Amino acid sequence: ILLSGVSEECEPEWCDSEDPLFILYTSGSTGKPKGVLHTIGGYMLYVATTFKLVFDYHPEDVYWCTADIGWITGHSYITYGPLANGATSVLFEGLPTYPDVSRMWEIVDKYQVTKFYTAPTAIRLLMKYGSEPVQKYKRDSLKVLGTVGEPINPEAWQWYYSVVGEKRCPVVDTFWQTETGGHVLTPLPAATPMKPGSATFPFFGVVPAILNESGEELEGPSEGYLVFKQPWPGVMRTVFGNHQRFETTYFEQFPGYYVTGDGCCRDKDGYYWITGRIDDMLNVSGHLLSTAEVESALVEHEAVVEAAVVSRPHPVKGESLYCFVTLTEGVSFSRTLEAQLKKQVREKIGAIATPDFIQNAPGLPKTRSGKIMRRVLRKIARNERDLGDVSTLADSSVIELLFQNHCCGAM
Ligand code: PRX
Repeated sequence: ILLSGVSEECEPEWCDSEDPLFILYTSGSTGKPKGVLHTIGGYMLYVATTFKLVFDYHPEDVYWCTADIGWITGHSYITYGPLANGATSVLFEGLPTYPDVSRMWEIVDKYQVTKFYTAPTAIRLLMKYGSEPVQKYKRDSLKVLGTVGEPINPEAWQWYYSVVGEKRCPVVDTFWQTETGGHVLTPLPAATPMKPGSATFPFFGVVPAILNESGEELEGPSEGYLVFKQPWPGVMRTVFGNHQRFETTYFEQFPGYYVTGDGCCRDKDGYYWITGRIDDMLNVSGHLLSTAEVESALVEHEAVVEAAVVSRPHPVKGESLYCFVTLTEGVSFSRTLEAQLKKQVREKIGAIATPDFIQNAPGLPKTRSGKIMRRVLRKIARNERDLGDVSTLADSSVIELLFQNHCCGAM
C-alpha cells in the first residue's frame, strides 16, 4: 500500500563540492570539544588519494583498519577512503584481547589481510604479552603495516616491524589530525626509507615548516612548532557554528600558517619527528623536554608497558616530571624499580630529564578513542580534584585509583 503511492525513481540530491559532509568533535583530550567541519569534494579526493598511495592499495588487497568508525580514522580510512577505491575491507567490532590476545592475528589469517592499520596504544598493549601469541598465526598475507594516533616509541615500532611484520612489511607511521582530514606526514611504503618513530616526509601538496617561538621559519635540522604553509584538499573548513574559533585556534598564533599544535623535530636528513603536543612539552630549568621522549625511555624498561609523563610545578626548576607507569603483568612496584627507572631516563636523555615522581598506574585515563587524557593526569599529579569535563573518558574508575596511589611530594 505504501509503495503504490510513490515513484520508483529516486533522484540523487546534487551537492556542491563545498557543501558540508560531516562534523566531528575532536576527542576532548584538551579543553572543550570543537566541531571540525569537512566538506564533500576536497575531503573525498584527499582520503581517496592518501588511502590509495599510503597503503599502496591494489584491487586484490584485503584491508583492515582497527579504529572505531565513529572517529576520524574510521571516517577517513574505514569508510570514505576505502569505499571511494572500491576496496575489500574487514570491519571489526570487538577487543584485541578477547577471547584472547591472538585475536588480531587470527583475523589476519582468516581473511588473508594484506594491509593492516592500527594505533601505538594497541601495539603496546599486545607487546606486553610477548611474541608467542603473534607467532601462533602465520600472518604471511601481510604487506603493509600502518600506525596512527600518537608518536610511536621506537621500541613499539621495532616490535611491530620485527615480530608482527617479520621485517617483510614496511611500516607507515602516518601523522595527521581530525582537522587535516587525511595523512599529512607519512612514508610511502617501500619507497620511503624508514626511521623508527619518524612520520618521515609530507604527502604530495603538503608544505610543512618548523617555527620558533617568534614565528620565524627554521631551516635545516631544527625543533619547534609544526605548521603548514598552504592548504591541501582535505583540510577542515571551519569550526561548526564558530568560524572565529577556527581562525583563532589554527591561524592566529602564527599568521599565514596552519598551526598543528604539535612540536616537531627535523633531522639532518630532512625527516620529521613529532615530539608530542606543544602543551605536553615541559620546561625544566630552562630546558625544553618532550614528554614523549621521557615516556619512550621509560617503556624501554622491560617492567613498563605504558607510561605517561606530565608536568608538575616546581619551585626551583619551574616544572618537574611526574610519571605514571603501567607495569607488565606480574611485576610489582618497588623502590628498586623506581630507582632503576630514574636511572634509565637519566642515562637515555640526560640528568635534566630525571623523573621527580614515579607513580604506579594500574590503568591510565583514556578517551574512547584510546588517547591518554593528559589534562586529567596533570590534575592528579597536582592532587587537584577539579577535573573538569571528563565525559569523553572510557573508564572513570581508574581516576580514584590514581588519586589513591598519588606520590605526596611537596609542591
Ligand atoms: O598529536 C598528534 C597525534 O594525534 C593528534 C591528532 O589527534 P586526532 O585529531 O584525535 O586524530 C587522531 C587520528 C589522526 C596530532 O595532533 N598524532 C596522530 N598521528 C600521529 C600523532 N603523533 C605522532 N605520530 C603520528 N603518527
